Amino acid sequence: MASLVTPELIEKFVEIVGGSYVLYDQDSLTQYGRDETEKLLFLPEIVIRPRTADEISKIMILCNEHKIPVTPRAGGTGLSGGAIPTKGGVLLSIDRLNEIIEIDEQNLQVTTETGVITEVLQDAVKAKGLFYPPDPSSKGSCFIGGNIAENSGGPKAVKYGKVKDYVLNLEVVLPTGEIIWTGANVLKNSTGYNLTQLMVGSEGTLGIVTKAVFKLIPYPKQDMLMLIPFHTLESASAAVSAIFRAGYTPSSLEFVEIDALKIAAQFVDSHVVPVDDSIAAHLIVEVDGNDPEVLMKDMEGIAIALDGFDIGEIFFAEDSQQKEELWKLRRRAAEAVKSVGYTVEEDTVVPRAKLPELIHGVKDLGVKFDFKVVCYGHAGDGNIHVRINKEGFPNSYGHPEMEEILNELFKLVVSLGGTISGEHGIGLTQKRYLSLILNDTHVRLMQGIKQTFDPNNILNAGKIFD
Ligand code: LAC
Ligand code: ZN
Repeated sequence: MASLVTPELIEKFVEIVGGSYVLYDQDSLTQYGRDETEKLLFLPEIVIRPRTADEISKIMILCNEHKIPVTPRAGGTGLSGGAIPTKGGVLLSIDRLNEIIEIDEQNLQVTTETGVITEVLQDAVKAKGLFYPPDPSSKGSCFIGGNIAENSGGPKAVKYGKVKDYVLNLEVVLPTGEIIWTGANVLKNSTGYNLTQLMVGSEGTLGIVTKAVFKLIPYPKQDMLMLIPFHTLESASAAVSAIFRAGYTPSSLEFVEIDALKIAAQFVDSHVVPVDDSIAAHLIVEVDGNDPEVLMKDMEGIAIALDGFDIGEIFFAEDSQQKEELWKLRRRAAEAVKSVGYTVEEDTVVPRAKLPELIHGVKDLGVKFDFKVVCYGHAGDGNIHVRINKEGFPNSYGHPEMEEILNELFKLVVSLGGTISGEHGIGLTQKRYLSLILNDTHVRLMQGIKQTFDPNNILNAGKIFD
């Protein structure tokens, strides 16, 4: 295909952002040609690293005029291929938009640029006693902008909600180069269509979010963590809904199958959890609040609610070091299992009482189609990541054998009243399954919205739907 990015255009991009921020050497193109999704690589023609919304606007005006595909990229930690430049063209990285603009302690809000690393933002507001809860496992390297694009969750979502629950207002550069603010810096807003929430989870297809205003909450002063071993997958998954039915809302309720835990323990060289061969899975249960006595009672109450669920000896994290260590095992599970061949990850979510049927069904599919599979994830939300390792198939994208497997998996999820992504988005790798869950009318409405925002279909085209 003839190059769309001509030397004249490159010169104009250099004028906008400066020569050091326009890259087209092979190493850079390769680095920006992949994210964390499977083992996929598509090279862009050029990488541009602007500093401001104004610069992005000028770039978009040029690209729109010349109909050049633009793929926006935040931290590059995505798991549905959203930031992979499948159409070539311009890869637009927001990594230089990395300033936290204001922490408003009077109103409990923060205004930030979107190239800020999630954990950096969390630490900055925590230093003022404030809490921004959404905490994807990749929080040490993912960006706020990517979290908005995917409507990210993480372990805290079960009590505190997802990105959508904290966004008040967004500055967005549209594909045409126009710049808007979508909302207002207020806690209630019934002023026209809710473009703020439309942007959240739009996977970089409608605009490039350059600033965000989030509401914050007071940081809970205490937390307690326990690891509960179960002898069967059935009892571990059935215990999840029992905890809520007994009247508790943990601040995290994670499920980790034993193989995932073993692989992660080896990957991070951790020995904190005694691994006993009779154990099939663990639940990681955290409670938080301000009164340690209340938390202790909650922990005891949860343990009592699980009496009769075939559990082993509960491990209580004694200090912050043990808590950190447990969380490290959980957070690095995806990376760990990927490193040993579980490259295909799905982001299934079902009503939480259906978890036993989901996990049982996943294991049956593994036997039927001869693949290894491990499950872990945010069980309290019914959101389980299914990691597949099938010899000779590192990717699902473009592989009919794997696509058949995923089609079966997602049919199971839909039959249980669930959906095909809880927090990773549809992006590239899940779009062929979208019709299992959304009908033609639904997709047509979304395509109409896309057309309104992006008449020339240049921004992250071919993601979510064609
Ligand atoms: C996790 C990521 C993969 O939960 O969402 O570890
Ligand atoms: Zn997750």
